Amino acid sequence: MRRPSRVNCARLSARLERLGQVGALPGGGVCRLALTDEDRKGRDLLVGWMRELGMAVLIDRIGNIFGTRPGRRPAPPLMIGSHIDTVKTGGLYDGALGVLTGLEVVETLDDLGVATDRPITVAAFTNEEGARFAPDMMGSLVHVGGMTVEAARAVVGIDGTTVGDALDGIGYAGLAPCGKPEVHSYLELHIEQGPILEAERVDIGVVEGVQAISWTEFVLEGASAHAGTTPMAMRRDAGLAAARAAVAVNDIVRAVGGQVGTVGSLVFEPNLVNVVAGKATFTVDLRNNDADALARVDAAVGLAVRGIAEDAGLALRSRILASFAPVGFDRDLIGEIEATTANLGLRSRRMVSGAGHDAQMMARICPAAMVFVPSARGLSHNIAEFTAPDDIAAGASVLFEMAVKLAGADMVGEEIA
Ligand code: GLV
Ligand code: MN
Ligand code: MN
Repeated sequence: MRRPSRVNCARLSARLERLGQVGALPGGGVCRLALTDEDRKGRDLLVGWMRELGMAVLIDRIGNIFGTRPGRRPAPPLMIGSHIDTVKTGGLYDGALGVLTGLEVVETLDDLGVATDRPITVAAFTNEEGARFAPDMMGSLVHVGGMTVEAARAVVGIDGTTVGDALDGIGYAGLAPCGKPEVHSYLELHIEQGPILEAERVDIGVVEGVQAISWTEFVLEGASAHAGTTPMAMRRDAGLAAARAAVAVNDIVRAVGGQVGTVGSLVFEPNLVNVVAGKATFTVDLRNNDADALARVDAAVGLAVRGIAEDAGLALRSRILASFAPVGFDRDLIGEIEATTANLGLRSRRMVSGAGHDAQMMARICPAAMVFVPSARGLSHNIAEFTAPDDIAAGASVLFEMAVKLAGADMVGEEIA
């Protein structure tokens, strides 16, 4: 039987709803693309909440936000984090749940009057989604020294703006240095974003790791021409070639077990009804838990696109937008999360994350782990994304009990799971 939660789930849900109003879309869901004005408003709200809780707020040079509740001794903190940027048609839970649960852990400790040995830092990392600026997990990657601030600032987004200009524009280019963080351990609560937990009626996903990710952008260039007068045999149609490439990606991916692949963006130029497309730009997102298999698929996709371009007499350019190896989370933390979950009377199963997460970057520098809660109908990156309050309560309870253990809480008279 589920034990009652020690966190205030109504307060957590209220903050999720409030943050969800920032960038709210007319039909539901949110658009808070990284480093836009909506992102700034979400950040301002978060920083305000951190200050209300008496946390020391620090912004680093790539705009990551860190709010810290001090510990009894000046030790490396337990970090609880995620992100508050979204895709263009995002939901209320992806990322926001992890950050706001961090705040809820802090406020619950405050309510209980409980001090911890080590500080607890709540982190909101810049541009986890990678939807506007590649790569994804940019803020956490820079935070751990996997990319320089300068390289990140130079990245040009889908609207032609650089990360640096956008960061300066919203006033979140902070002063704190990046690259050598001292963190004791890292926890992230996230929605599953897939269908497994709901289908199996399991409360908690104990995440063993994250699959490998490869993003490539291809640009095909032919010649724009009159749609009525140009004979089919005389066209250099970049749009048609891109469509053939998308089908080829799908065929290649479906032939490999455990592989997923997506052409999620395809832009024609000039993109008009009566003009043969002279240029087509498209992206390929490939993921697999097996890095070697992913590399083979990546190579096969490259070869196929090259063949299609040659067939059609088109020029081809490509660039890698993101490339991350599979990541395994900390074995001890995984075991502790399982034990904590069982103590709370919750059902859990181990799983590998299909989506990328800031935890995979933090795993480079400290023990890191993730807790998943079910996503209704497995939907995410969709305005209908939903996780039931009871499921949020379960996940937040696991996070709280884990935080108490890792930060070293002095909970007199309290049974710690
Ligand atoms: C980030 O959310 C990703 O997995 O694409
Ligand atoms: Mn996320
Ligand atoms: Mn996402």
